[in-house]
Amino acid sequence: MSKTKKKAEAPAERLPKREQIVLSGTKPTGENLHLGNYFGALRQFVELQEEHDSALYFIADYHSMTSIRNGPERRRNTESVALDYLAAGLDPDRAILFRQSDLPEVAELTWILTSITPMGMLERAHAYKAAMDKGEDIDHGLFTYPVLMAADILLYGSHLVPVGRDQKQHIEMARDMAQRFNRLYECEALVLPEPHILEDTAVVPGTDGRKMSKSYANTISMFAARGKVKKAIMGIVTDSTPVEDPKDTNQAVFELWSLFATPDERAELFARAAAGGLGYGDVKKDLLGRLMDYFEPMRVRRAEFEGNPQAVEEILRGGAQRARTLAMPILEACREAAGLGVPRGAGRP
Ligand code: ADP
Ligand code: TRP
Repeated sequence: MSKTKKKAEAPAERLPKREQIVLSGTKPTGENLHLGNYFGALRQFVELQEEHDSALYFIADYHSMTSIRNGPERRRNTESVALDYLAAGLDPDRAILFRQSDLPEVAELTWILTSITPMGMLERAHAYKAAMDKGEDIDHGLFTYPVLMAADILLYGSHLVPVGRDQKQHIEMARDMAQRFNRLYECEALVLPEPHILEDTAVVPGTDGRKMSKSYANTISMFAARGKVKKAIMGIVTDSTPVEDPKDTNQAVFELWSLFATPDERAELFARAAAGGLGYGDVKKDLLGRLMDYFEPMRVRRAEFEGNPQAVEEILRGGAQRARTLAMPILEACREAAGLGVPRGAGRP
């Protein structure tokens, strides 16, 4: 991957921060969002919409097609991600919220990129390799997934892509594809994007101490009912140090608790842990209370939007229109550079 030239060529660095375009997407897979999704991705989305004039957040319904083969289910899941976005604080006046498939132009750019993407690059993709290792039945969509993701990013001229660390490789691939296209067609149609990863929450641990992920069944949900959240929290694996002994704070339970604490509170709890006499059960109980309080305003906002699906639909439609104004000049520049369609200025056939 193109690590060496990264700095000098990053267009993002030539632009004032406010003008850098931010973009990210979430797959509507139907799972409840978990703490990893929120602290690793969504929370950054909300912060970045304040700091940038253009922030685009979409629901990656095309991407969900590699795993979901049921139309009504996809629609339900798509609506659910829209609600999660709005609940978490994404504001349609600040950010462009849209449904990926409302801009089928992305499929055209996918094809354009597919035609210049080496097989070897896709064969090195972590997700593909993992599926191969598990001996899964892999379809072409899964293999091509990184190209569709690159098209998502490049179609809107995105500079920064906020994601968790697991997505970094996809963004490096998008960069490589953009570079390749620009070089092969001697143009500057595509912007080279950069990942934006918050290092302190890049990997939120799950209840078993591994990365929190729906694939590991170790998640703690943001919006589940109290009983379910409690069950997950009580299941967080800890070592078997007796209550009276000093505790190793390098464990998931402390890391998760810290997500909901100020630095002073954290220092205080860690001092108590070091002194001995602190029970894991008490930390877990406190974590439950903090988590429920933290997400309560979002829970309320989610319920409000859930009761008004028309408003949600309007937001997504408006977002798609705004996204299209960014996408069309870029797609046209690609078509022109690649010699596709009617020549520039000749009008549509
Ligand atoms: P999962 O691993 O549960 O399948 P997704 O792949 O759907 O999660 O991730 C959606 C977004 O949340 C991505 O940007 C991803 O990087 C981020 N994310 C997921 N899990 C974590 C985690 N444990 N820590 C930090 N970020 C995460
Ligand atoms: N692949 C991402 C995930 O699994 C979702 C996604 C699709 C995405 N297209 C994107 C993220 C473009 C950032 C930019 O989480």
